[in-house]
Amino acid sequence: MKAEGNVFIKFAGDGDVEEKKRIVLEANMNEKIKLSRKIAELVGNLPLFPTDIDRLLAAALRPGEDSTEILRLIEGDPKLSSQLLQLARSYYGTTEKIETIADAVRRIGIQPLVQLIGISYARDAIQQEFAALKYLNEYIDHAEDIYITCSILGEICGLPREQRDMYALAGLVHDVGRLAIMVASNRTSAHVLGTLWDKMVSAVHDEKAKLGTNHCEVGAHICRKWNFSPIIEEGVLRHHTPLVNNDFNFAGAVIFISHFVSASDPSGEIISTLEATKVLARLNLSVSDFEKAKNTYKSRTQSAG
Ligand SMILES: [Fe+2]
Ligand SMILES: [Fe+2]
Repeated sequence: MKAEGNVFIKFAGDGDVEEKKRIVLEANMNEKIKLSRKIAELVGNLPLFPTDIDRLLAAALRPGEDSTEILRLIEGDPKLSSQLLQLARSYYGTTEKIETIADAVRRIGIQPLVQLIGISYARDAIQQEFAALKYLNEYIDHAEDIYITCSILGEICGLPREQRDMYALAGLVHDVGRLAIMVASNRTSAHVLGTLWDKMVSAVHDEKAKLGTNHCEVGAHICRKWNFSPIIEEGVLRHHTPLVNNDFNFAGAVIFISHFVSASDPSGEIISTLEATKVLARLNLSVSDFEKAKNTYKSRTQSAG
């Protein structure tokens, strides 16, 4: 009797049914262990950011760290300062005057500014490391869609700017774990479209059953490796499960609802989903707030071309 992966198993003779079941189970389990090891290895081998960026992100992580040390690191490094200014202008500069680091800190806030540069390095690393994925552009489009929607929802929730910018940045990397899973499982020619609204709950259960992990856990692991803020890490971890019993994660909820906002919902079917209704209520948003978010999303994405 020989088990080869979980695909083809040949039995000699009739054999015992229980024994066959045991062998199939064992083969699937081995496959699962192999795959989750491969995913962990892939995450472990992702490149680290340049030392100055890494040091900056690590400084922003230290509990109770005030902005003085972070500002010292930025202003003491002319290359880093100019990179940050360029980034701040390209993300926020259309309506705001950003000429100095002090301007950028005043307008954007120190934490989102630091995370923004981390995420821009992450974007380059993702493009290099996951270049084997044929449809990587779909991941980028979905990430940008969710970034826009998180920002709209943050405004409607009346969140302070710094907080909503952090959630939007979490939205930008929320599905990074999917890329690692796809590469590790050799699914490089498959589409990388974001999860559809009606699969937001079931998708991660399916992954967990198949892999023993899911893209939220893998994504959170990647965020930890790259020293992203715990707000971003938690948002990534909880973006499919923002409400577990009474345990609620705000960033995860904003990303979760963003998937419903950016989908078209002429029949009203989407928002009547039980989980979405509960999460909306925890965000203190009404159905008309949801409608408003959808309309704003439509007008912003249409005007962006
Ligand atoms: Fe996801
Ligand atoms: Fe997604």
